[in-house]
Amino acid sequence: MSILSVKVTKKLVFIIILIICLFYFTYIYLNINVENTDDKISDNESIATPPLLLNGRKRPKQGYVVSVVRIEKNCGDIKNIMIENCLKYLDENEDDYMISFPTTAGVSPPPPCDRDHSPMLFHVFWKGQITDKLVLMMKSFLYSQPLECSTLYVWLDDINDTNFNDNEQIRPLLKYSPTNIEFKIWNASEQFSSSDVYAGWQKHYYSTRSVKLSDLVRFVVLHNYGGIYIDADVLLVRDMRPLYYANFEFSYRWSYLNEYNTAVLRLWKESSSSEMVIRGAIKNNMSFHPFNISKYLSTHENFILQETNKLIYMLPPGLFDPLWLKQDSKQSSSVLSPNLRKLTDAFDPNIIPDEIPGIDHSKFDGSPLDIRKIENFFRGIFTYHWHNQWDVKIHRKSWIGVIQTAYDNFLSGKRRNLYNEYIFE
Ligand SMILES: *[C@@H]1O[C@H](CO)[C@@H](O)[C@H](O)[C@H]1NC(C)=O
Ligand SMILES: *[C@@H]1O[C@H](CO)[C@@H](O)[C@H](O)[C@H]1NC(C)=O
Ligand SMILES: *[C@@H]1O[C@H](CO)[C@@H](O)[C@H](O)[C@H]1NC(C)=O
Ligand SMILES: *[C@@H]1O[C@H](CO)[C@@H](O)[C@H](O)[C@H]1NC(C)=O
Ligand SMILES: *[C@@H]1O[C@H](CO)[C@@H](O)[C@H](O)[C@H]1NC(C)=O
Repeated sequence: MSILSVKVTKKLVFIIILIICLFYFTYIYLNINVENTDDKISDNESIATPPLLLNGRKRPKQGYVVSVVRIEKNCGDIKNIMIENCLKYLDENEDDYMISFPTTAGVSPPPPCDRDHSPMLFHVFWKGQITDKLVLMMKSFLYSQPLECSTLYVWLDDINDTNFNDNEQIRPLLKYSPTNIEFKIWNASEQFSSSDVYAGWQKHYYSTRSVKLSDLVRFVVLHNYGGIYIDADVLLVRDMRPLYYANFEFSYRWSYLNEYNTAVLRLWKESSSSEMVIRGAIKNNMSFHPFNISKYLSTHENFILQETNKLIYMLPPGLFDPLWLKQDSKQSSSVLSPNLRKLTDAFDPNIIPDEIPGIDHSKFDGSPLDIRKIENFFRGIFTYHWHNQWDVKIHRKSWIGVIQTAYDNFLSGKRRNLYNEYIFE
C-alpha cells in the first residue's frame, strides 16, 4: 500500500510540475506578445513588470542574523566538508543558520531597514581611473543589497577626472548618488588626523613603497567609519544584513591557511581590534599585509585561532570564495555548480568541460547563455571573489558577462534581482 501511495504521489507531483511549467511558459509568451503589440496595450502592469524568477530567494527576516556555530559546523572543517556541501547547506537551510538576534543586555538588535535608521555601510577602494571592473562591484551592490538601508562609500585615489558624467560606465549609477553610493576622495592626512591611534604613521606611509595601499585603507576607513570593506574584485551576491549585524567582527580564511583574507572585512567603528591592527602595523613599517594581521591581534607568540577569533572571526572560505580550495588543489575532486575548475573559468566565454554536471558539453550545441543564469551561480554564497583578473576582458558569454548583463537589465528595469525585486521609474 505504501508503494502505491508513493507512485500516486509521484504522478501527482509530475502533473503539478507540468501545470506550473505550462503556466510559466504561457506567462513568458504572453509577456512577449504584449510587448510586441504596442497599440493594443490594455494592461499596463504586464509590460512594466519583468517576469518572476522561479528560484529567487526571500530577503532575510528582519532582526535575523547568522549563527556562527551552525555555519562553522557545516562549512568550517575544510578537510572533511566539500565546498559543494557547504553551499548546499547555505542555499537550502537558512532556517537552520538564520537565528533571531539573541537579546543580550547592552547589545542593540539590528535596526529596521528604512531611511530613518543608519544604513549598512559598505566601503570599496580604487586607485586610478575608474574601469568596468570597479563599476561591476558597484552594480553588484545595487543588485543585491536592500537599498532602503544600504550605502556604499567608493574611496578613490589618484583620480584625475571627477566629472563622472563623462564616464559612460559611471553615468547610469549617478542617480543612486549620494543616497546609496557616495564617492569619496582618499586623503591620507585627513583620515589619519582623526585619532591618535595613528600617531607615527607619516614615518613609513610615504617611504615604504611596498605598502599595498588598499590593505591599509580598509583598516583605516573601517576604524573611522565602521562598516564592511569589500575589495573591488568581489561581487556582493546575497543580502549581507545577517552577517553585518551578527554580533562579531569578521573576515574570512585565506584558502586552507590559518590566515585572514581581508577582501571581505567587517569591523565596528573605533573597535579595539582595528586599533590593535593599526598600532601593530605602524610599528611594523605600515605593513597591513593580510598575513600579518593575526600577529597584531595576539599578545603572545603561540596564539591560537580561538583567541584571534574572539577579536576578528575567521569565517570559512566557502561563504565568499567558492572556487579557491579547488583552484589550490585542496579540494580537487569538488563538483561545484557551475562546475568551474579555476578562477579564470568565470571569465571564459566557452563552456567548461562538465560545467553543468549531466550535460555532455561535446554534444551541447547551444549557446553558453542558454545554461548560464546568474541565480544559479554558486547558489548559497554571500559574495564571489574573482581574484585580481584585472586585465581580462569581460566577455558577454562568460559567467562574469552573464552577471554583468543581469545587473544592467536590472538597473534598466528589465529584470528582477535574486529577491524578485525590480526597479521602476
Ligand atoms: C501606464 O501607467 C503609468 C503610471 O502607472 C501611466 O502614467 C501611463 O499613462 C500608463 N500607460 C498606459 C498606456 O496606460
Ligand atoms: C587622466 O589619466 C589618464 C590615464 O592615466 C590619462 O590618459 C589622461 O590624460 C589624464 N587626464 C588628465 C586630465 O590629466
Ligand atoms: C587633505 O587633508 C588635509 C588635512 O585635512 C588638508 O589640509 C588637505 O588640504 C587635503 N588635501 C586635499 C588634496 O584635499
Ligand atoms: C622598515 O623599512 C626600512 C626601510 O624600508 C627597513 O630598513 C627596516 O628594516 C624595516 N623595519 C622592519 C621592522 O621591517
Ligand atoms: C608580515 O608579512 C610578511 C609577508 O608574509 C612577512 O614577510 C613578515 O615577516 C610579516 N611580518 C610580521 C611581523 O609578521
